[in-house]
Amino acid sequence: MTVAHAGFGRPASLNERMVGASILSADFAALGAEVDAVLAAGADALHVDVMDGHFVPNLSMGPAICSSLHRHVPDAFLDVHLMVERPDNFIEGFAKAGARHQTIHIESAVNHRELAAQIHEAGCTAGIAVNPDTPVDQMLALQDVYQLFLVMSVHPGYSGQSFLDGVLPKVATLRAELAPGSWIQMDGGVSPNTAPQCRDAGCNMLISASAIYGSDDYRIPIDAIRGQPDMLGSHG
Ligand code: DX5
Ligand code: ZN
Repeated sequence: MTVAHAGFGRPASLNERMVGASILSADFAALGAEVDAVLAAGADALHVDVMDGHFVPNLSMGPAICSSLHRHVPDAFLDVHLMVERPDNFIEGFAKAGARHQTIHIESAVNHRELAAQIHEAGCTAGIAVNPDTPVDQMLALQDVYQLFLVMSVHPGYSGQSFLDGVLPKVATLRAELAPGSWIQMDGGVSPNTAPQCRDAGCNMLISASAIYGSDDYRIPIDAIRGQPDMLGSHG
């Protein structure tokens, strides 16, 4: 396996938590400055939402944008979230564009074991996501090949939607069943108001677009979403 720029190359340590800024709510006409600003404000990763207009009813960005970001901030952790019908067609391109991690959806009609191998071969760590109405059982059966488990807390397609708290029990199930230190990511409607529930349920990577980019001072929501060290739970 080639690991040129692996992302989640190791399990999380106790009390470790990451905040990823989804650039979907950034000002695309000023993307370089927008990513500089969230990274300076403490974001641990840039979350790149890829949409094909089929798997979700929206179009967003492709490898060229990822490549420009990688040239602009080569040390940034680029976390690619593939909301597309055929993720297998894009994995190589995003890896070459500098992605460190790629997450595909369990609802995509592909062989998920083969896709994990394809992502690893491309030099990235691999994540598997579930939409709000999809149970996590099938995802649990893939825990030997994926490094990150994403529970969507909105129906994917757009930033700025309301958090669906009905998905929280799925996070608790994953946290109970997965190996200690596994990465569990929440994406959609995550804000300083909803992040405590995500953290309490067992998430250790939180993604946010509108709550960060909608703020005048990006550091405030990023710090609030991450939570204070003395508030950290015992997930590890
Ligand atoms: C939704 C995307 C999310 C989205 C989050 O389809 O996967 O990453 O950008 O946006 P907010 O935080 O505004 O809900
Ligand atoms: Zn996303």
